[in-house]
Amino acid sequence: MTSTRLTQLSAASLMFLAAGGAASAQQADTQAIVDALFKAGGNQPNVRASGAKGTCVKGTFTPSAEAPGLSKAPHFTKALPVTARFSMGGSNPKVSDKAKPVTRGFSMRIADPAGDMVFVFISAPVFSTKTPQQLLDFATVRAPGPDGKPDADKIKAFGDANPETTRQAAWLNARPVPASFAGVDYWGVHAYTLTDAKGKATVAKLKTVAVAGQLGLSDDEVKAKPDAFYADELKERLAQGPASFDLVAILGEAGDPTGDPTVQWPEESRKSVKLGTLAITALEPAATCDGATFDPVADLPEGVAGPADDPMFAIRSPAYAISLSRRAN
Ligand code: HEM
Repeated sequence: MTSTRLTQLSAASLMFLAAGGAASAQQADTQAIVDALFKAGGNQPNVRASGAKGTCVKGTFTPSAEAPGLSKAPHFTKALPVTARFSMGGSNPKVSDKAKPVTRGFSMRIADPAGDMVFVFISAPVFSTKTPQQLLDFATVRAPGPDGKPDADKIKAFGDANPETTRQAAWLNARPVPASFAGVDYWGVHAYTLTDAKGKATVAKLKTVAVAGQLGLSDDEVKAKPDAFYADELKERLAQGPASFDLVAILGEAGDPTGDPTVQWPEESRKSVKLGTLAITALEPAATCDGATFDPVADLPEGVAGPADDPMFAIRSPAYAISLSRRAN
């Protein structure tokens, strides 16, 4: 991605924020959510409200022969350059790479002259909350107290009252700590609608499947690792060759919920179609990723749409812009 593109994106985001009087009540809610996300991570300066610790990379996306049969997006007709970022969930840039119930993130910008296609995925098939209000409450109970730690009793009470918010941590806790950003699958969690050139619409959840397979650490291996090892591991891995992922569409069936990202579809019994391969080839300077947001709502081409009935989807755009404005200052 060029620096011009970064500047344009930053300007667009800041114009959104400057929309002042026209700001909706939802924007106020969004500001409160972003504030709560920052607070939960200890209010660190100049970082993202989530995915604060991460590594910027670049590569190529090569579509499969089947992809144009699902979506008319030009990104599925030719190989294109990719800017991507792997990250650790949350707004604390010092979070340990060994932390278990923390999602790893994979954000990608597939750049086409006609407009980019951006996806922001996590290493779990579900998100932690189903509504913006629930996310606000989820983040608020995780704010550190005077001792620097959140109140475990409050977190437990919130989880008991909102059981769907515990699914993501349960899923992560049931699996090993990933040994590499390139050795774990990532999900889009939202239900996208893919539309082909004839207007045929297909509802699908998107996923990247690590070609290296699921590389997990044993408990002893975790103990032996330093708190930051993903960046070095990736550098060494990429020196040997690309780290690749298949981008896969899991096709929905009648009755699969499209409006609740805390619910996983039964993937094993759903048809899936490979949309292409992402080959991550090299590290990029952090500035390439930090000057803009990966906006998974605004940066979608015709032929790929987010879910209209998922209240978590649309507010990601203003939330990411608010977070960007904070690190841009
Ligand atoms: C209401 C819903 C959500 C809100 C308010 C929210 C908020 C945020 C914010 C403010 C950022 C920082 C963006 C930046 O400064 O560039 C962020 C980053 C991120 N979010 Fe979300 N998020 C939401 C939903 C999700 C979901 C559903 C996923 C998983 C698919 C997700 C995954 C990520 C990841 C991986 C990053 C790091 C992006 C990067 O590397 O630049 N978020 N989120």
